[in-house]
Amino acid sequence: MAEKEKLWGGRFTQPTDQFVEAFTASVQFDKRLAPYDIQGSIAHARMLRKIGVLTAAECEAIVSGLERIGAEIQSGRFPWSVALEDVHMNIEARLTELVGEAGKKLHTARSRNDQVATDIRLWLRDELGHILSELHRLQSALLDLAWQEAETIMPGFTHLQVAQPVTFGHHLLAWFEMLQRDRERFTDCRRRVNVMPLGAAALAGTPFPIDRFYTAQLLGFDTPAANSLDAVSDRDFAIEFTGCAALLMMHLSRFAEELVLWTSAQFGFIELPDAFCTGSSIMPQKKNPDVPELVRGKSGRVFGHLMGLLTLMKSQPLAYNKDNQEDKEPLFDTVDTVVNSLRAFADMMPHVSPDRDRMRQAARQGYATATDLADYLVRKGVAFRDAHEIVGKAVQLALSRQCDLADLPLERLQALCGRIDEDVYEVLTLEGSVAARNHFGGTAPEQVRKAVEQARTRLEQVI
Ligand code: ARG
Repeated sequence: MAEKEKLWGGRFTQPTDQFVEAFTASVQFDKRLAPYDIQGSIAHARMLRKIGVLTAAECEAIVSGLERIGAEIQSGRFPWSVALEDVHMNIEARLTELVGEAGKKLHTARSRNDQVATDIRLWLRDELGHILSELHRLQSALLDLAWQEAETIMPGFTHLQVAQPVTFGHHLLAWFEMLQRDRERFTDCRRRVNVMPLGAAALAGTPFPIDRFYTAQLLGFDTPAANSLDAVSDRDFAIEFTGCAALLMMHLSRFAEELVLWTSAQFGFIELPDAFCTGSSIMPQKKNPDVPELVRGKSGRVFGHLMGLLTLMKSQPLAYNKDNQEDKEPLFDTVDTVVNSLRAFADMMPHVSPDRDRMRQAARQGYATATDLADYLVRKGVAFRDAHEIVGKAVQLALSRQCDLADLPLERLQALCGRIDEDVYEVLTLEGSVAARNHFGGTAPEQVRKAVEQARTRLEQVI
């Protein structure tokens, strides 16, 4: 493209190097922002009309031209050009082509610097809406399953060794809590996203008597940004969002890891629906948990984007620098990764089927009620440290007899400690163990049901 055709070509005498043109262009990826660029431009035009910079007829021409461009883009008929560098100049050039002189006036009192920062915020605000609703869907599926599995016994682990029995419903609620905090973080992040840079122009504001509050209102922003230099330059909102996304992906990776473990033949705690697994090209017996594995793996790219964006912003002097063009690809990929991972989990959760017998069996095998025996001895007047020692001996005995604690004969237990009575067998059962942990936040089925009910209310509350 000849320099005189470029929207900024006036001061140039030589054409841009072809490689540099492609190297500096962003339209290949920022065209994704087009609907938001149009939305922002329409609001800007209406504001210019309100303050008398545009006539009603000019404003109308611009708005209908932009709407037409929106339709062209949607139907894939829009003539994108790398020579026009980015989404903003592609749309503006096409607008002038379509509506003539009025199109050339749209960029009054505006710069691409405040324009792009506005576009990203509008886009991210929408994507936050998708993320929040997918999170809600996944949490809701977890609550349904937790309610259903309030009494199901499984081993609880520490160090991935059987520790104490817990209910499956309680375990599922742990995931709910993690996601609840993620939802709170995204909701809070949205407040700082929903601030409007438009009006900052290149960096210092504009001599035109703009009404930024009016534009902000048209675009649904809470407020215009309070400092023009800050408005065009900082991308902390993008970093903050990616930080929230990294935490969410960390949680999903833990969740995924457990699903992978639990579907293995060694655990056999759950079965995933066929629709969410794939087979092996060589081993006919295989059913691989690809969806959780991929989600676990995808956490890596989001952590990488967080580091990338932090580094992008580090040491940047005020105000806008071209470096900031590099914010988009990591941000787009973060959003896509998060939305897709949440969607996969939310779709899959209602079809997860637990194998209650296997879970119960696994809890029986690991001497999971040893702590209950120690607590029992304490209630009979033994000091906890001594009780710990006695129970250690009981476990040793059970190991040598290859049986469960509950299978040890009373005489053998009494030989270890005279205070043990017939009633010891009540605490050695798995049901007794979980039912005893009957306090707020505990694993007893009764508490799980209460927690699910409360969680349903918390899920609907405005955060
Ligand atoms: N494509 C640019 C970006 O994404 C738009 C802003 C360009 N501003 C400038 N002064 N060159 O950041």
